[in-house]
Amino acid sequence: MRETIDIGIELGNTGSAVALAEDGGARVLRNNEYRDRTPSAVFMPRPGTTLVGRAARERLKAAPKDAYAGFVLRLGTAGEPYRFHRAGVTRTAEQLAAEVLKSLCRDAAHERGEPPAAAVIAVPASFTPEQHDAARRAAVLAGLGEDCPLLPEPVAVALAYGADGTARRGPWMVFSMGSSGFTASLVGERDGGLRLLGHVGAPHLGGGHIDRAIVDDLLAPAVVRDFGPRDFTRGSERWRTNFAKLQGAAEAAKIELSRATEAELYVDLTLDGGEETFSYTLTRGALDDLARPSYAEAVALCRRLLAENSLLPEDVDALLLAGGATLAPGLRELLADPRAGLGIRADHSQDPTTVAARGAALHAGTVPLPAAAPALARDEIAGLLRETRDALSRCTGLLDQAGTGVPGRLRAAVALLRETVGRLDDDLRRGGAAGWHTAAPSRTRALVLLRRLRDRLAELHGALTGDAGGESRRPAPLGTGPGPGLP
Ligand SMILES: Nc1ncnc2c1ncn2[C@@H]1O[C@H](COP(=O)(O)OP(=O)(O)OP(=O)(O)O)[C@@H](O)[C@H]1O
Ligand SMILES: [Mg+2]
Repeated sequence: MRETIDIGIELGNTGSAVALAEDGGARVLRNNEYRDRTPSAVFMPRPGTTLVGRAARERLKAAPKDAYAGFVLRLGTAGEPYRFHRAGVTRTAEQLAAEVLKSLCRDAAHERGEPPAAAVIAVPASFTPEQHDAARRAAVLAGLGEDCPLLPEPVAVALAYGADGTARRGPWMVFSMGSSGFTASLVGERDGGLRLLGHVGAPHLGGGHIDRAIVDDLLAPAVVRDFGPRDFTRGSERWRTNFAKLQGAAEAAKIELSRATEAELYVDLTLDGGEETFSYTLTRGALDDLARPSYAEAVALCRRLLAENSLLPEDVDALLLAGGATLAPGLRELLADPRAGLGIRADHSQDPTTVAARGAALHAGTVPLPAAAPALARDEIAGLLRETRDALSRCTGLLDQAGTGVPGRLRAAVALLRETVGRLDDDLRRGGAAGWHTAAPSRTRALVLLRRLRDRLAELHGALTGDAGGESRRPAPLGTGPGPGLP
């Protein structure tokens, strides 16, 4: 019998991952394409069909009204919902994040034979309390229950690097560069746990930015030189597909350059004269020249974070690398440089693309599974509601039998209760398994309200049998005690 949560999830703006705690460590669970990471993207090609991951990410440019990404950072912020034109539906950021979580849960279920009941979820360092609440609601929508612990991503990263405050004292700086941004964070011991002490971020300093620079500064001018298309710019609707292909090839070549000094790239472009195969040799030197300003800006942000926290480089235990873009040798060389770098020992002993999910799983291995309380409460709510409806129909039956002989205040009281029960019933039906009644505070409210309704109906029933039966027993005092509709 499993006693701890064990499942750790990194819910990222561009990509997400899931890992399992086992044997004192953590193992990444691959998705059905045998990949460690699942793009946080959702595509709805027609009503009733939802695709998550790579298939969705690949449609972002070609079907911008049917596929969306970037919704994780919009969790808990005001903003228009996402309209899926072909499917004819709209979805909130929470619903889309829930689709990503569901997809990761399916991967976990495939591995373990059962869907996870809960998960520790690593969320971006920049998340506000509202965004944490929204992420929790997304977890509930995904069937993960309402007790999923959330961890700031840098804390999860630090855990995976073994920063547990015992062997090493910290603080640690997490240098996180993914697809769509850069974040530097300080993590350290506080109040008996590992906490996020501070962070700074820049949304434009990610791997995607470097890919765009490769296209705009090197590839697009070479296409113009080789084939002469007019107005060959990123903003031109006409060349949208070509630019998407170039960007994909730029990313692949960039990744190849972390192991080679040259990468050949071939792209089939659709130009005025028909199909043309564009070829280009990207060198490590050219890539480093393009990327260096971004790296230097990231290092400057790290220095600012140190200064804001009154720390010197020697106060920091290690620089922990996270995010795929930190695999670039050019960046690692810069970080190791005594003058251009930070002067903090860089630790890259972990796979930076999965380190956050594995850290979340390590933590999940220590958190007890939430008790079955929510399910019990749901059952209790359903049972109480049934009882309440029955009691109400008994009261209504008595009123009908009694005809006009019943005091008006009793009729009014029953009518009010009927309205309240109807409203509650509607809310519960609309909410379904993931509705408002499953959020802890609302669940408590629903239980309290239903218990009061039940007592009140029992009182009324007593009063009605007293009156309708023509016995001398006085009706229970209805003006006292809390009325329906409360609290
Ligand atoms: N070997 C490599 N060398 C350089 N860059 C790489 C390498 N492998 C992956 N990347 C880049 O890392 C980025 C993806 O990193 P990661 O998967 O950590 O990002 P993400 O979590 O999806 O994005 P974000 O954190 O911005 O939401 C991409 O820009 C990718 O091109
Ligand atoms: Mg990331």
